Amino acid sequence: MNGQAIGVFDSGLGGLTTVRQLHRLMPEERIIYFGDTGRVPYGSRSREILRKYAQQDMAFLMHHQVKMVIAACGTVSSTSADLGAQLPVPFTGIIEPAARAAVQATRTGRIGVIATAATIASEALPRAIRALRPTATVYSQACPLFVPLVEGGFTDPADPVTRMVAERYLAPLRGAVDTLILACTHYPIIAPIIGSVMGDGVTLIDSGAETARHALRVLDSAHLRADPAAPGGTEYYVTDRVQDFERIGGLFLGQQLTGDVHHVDVDQL
Ligand code: DGL
Repeated sequence: MNGQAIGVFDSGLGGLTTVRQLHRLMPEERIIYFGDTGRVPYGSRSREILRKYAQQDMAFLMHHQVKMVIAACGTVSSTSADLGAQLPVPFTGIIEPAARAAVQATRTGRIGVIATAATIASEALPRAIRALRPTATVYSQACPLFVPLVEGGFTDPADPVTRMVAERYLAPLRGAVDTLILACTHYPIIAPIIGSVMGDGVTLIDSGAETARHALRVLDSAHLRADPAAPGGTEYYVTDRVQDFERIGGLFLGQQLTGDVHHVDVDQL
């Protein structure tokens, strides 16, 4: 089983920020990435629809005989993790890894969470944080404009539009928290802006990076790591135009996207 791929999925491109960390930590692993670019965004949808999509996305990866499934999507992780837990292979979303990292990082027990509207409405992160630290105070803020800003390329650390939006969203959290969880796949791309608005002394938790680290531990303890001499590599599957994914994917991966990108018909899921 060790030579089989790790399955990673997201509503679209954002999960590539997790793939980037997986490449860094485990370059020898094969990855199959499913991005539901034909149905993105997930973050504004109802729980019922999200669970249906999550089930289809996971079934797609299982069909490819992956050895582990990672929901690299804050929205799926916060609404459908119980579906992942029923899979016959190890599963992780971003919630527990991010909550654990935040609880370890905080000095005051005051933790902020920023994410899509669906993730914030689920209250999954406040629950996970309080399960680890019952005395923690959690401040949550949905930041729905961040996703289109990132996808639109408004990502330069000096971008005035993104900065203005960040100042508006983050005003209630500024000064209130010492740790802030970026609980959406897209947010690490604008972490420099978020960090500078929040100010010095606030630790940003990159949920994708924490999830990749957690996946490494899970694979290690299940003795499922690939041969260290294996070449690794990623295959991508998307439900909308392949060219768009190839063009913007590099922004999220932090390097040019290499590896085959295939189109999947959403009606066949
Ligand atoms: N992938 C989603 C998340 O991390 C953000 C994009 C979307 O709304 O689909 O919550």
